[in-house]
Amino acid sequence: MTAGRKTLEIVPSLLAADLSRMGELVAQVRSAGMRWISVDVMDGHFVPNLSFGPDHVRMVKALGVPVVDAHLMVDNPGRAVPWFIDAGADFVTIHAESCADPGPVLAAIRKSGAKAGLAVKPATAASALTPWLASIDLALIMTVEPGFGGARFLSGMLPKIKAVRQAIDAGGHDCWLQVDGGINSETIVAAAQAGADSLVAGSAVFGASDPASAFKGLREKISV
Ligand code: DX5
Repeated sequence: MTAGRKTLEIVPSLLAADLSRMGELVAQVRSAGMRWISVDVMDGHFVPNLSFGPDHVRMVKALGVPVVDAHLMVDNPGRAVPWFIDAGADFVTIHAESCADPGPVLAAIRKSGAKAGLAVKPATAASALTPWLASIDLALIMTVEPGFGGARFLSGMLPKIKAVRQAIDAGGHDCWLQVDGGINSETIVAAAQAGADSLVAGSAVFGASDPASAFKGLREKISV
């Protein structure tokens, strides 16, 4: 366990869930030990898809999930941030590519009492994250092109994960290193070994026929 590295958390992504059964599915995976869900917010501009809004964060919080992160894949995130904070998001993550200067938005998230996250797409270098490590509580490295679930894990992201892990540890930053996209029973091991401590999984959990067993299976793979 490297200095500052947190106990690994598997974070199911709501995007893969059958929303007609959301309460049932969340309860099943909660019973398997889940404490953190990721809600993917897409505006049809920053990514070519539309997904959830603040009411979905409210619903998941109302289901008793202790930690909900709102991953804002949206242009002009500063406008949307208050909506998700008001909805009870514990983390609000914005994309480095979505605003010229993430500093003020990150500061506003923290000032509200929520935790601030900064995300990068696969084509964006680690250097877009590392200067901000003292200003964020979570660094998110996308391991798929954002916009849809079910895509293949981009193993070319492993060096970026390692680089950000090293930067977090070298600076003694209290910052989660989250990866998101294509995480399954095979890729989760490589992602964790590269230094991720928060692992978002959509298809591999809520897309499975038995989400609770799938969640447990992923945890066994990284022995948490
Ligand atoms: C993609 C989303 C991911 C996605 C992960 O833009 O941010 O969270 O839901 O889904 P899987 O785990 O199926 O790749």
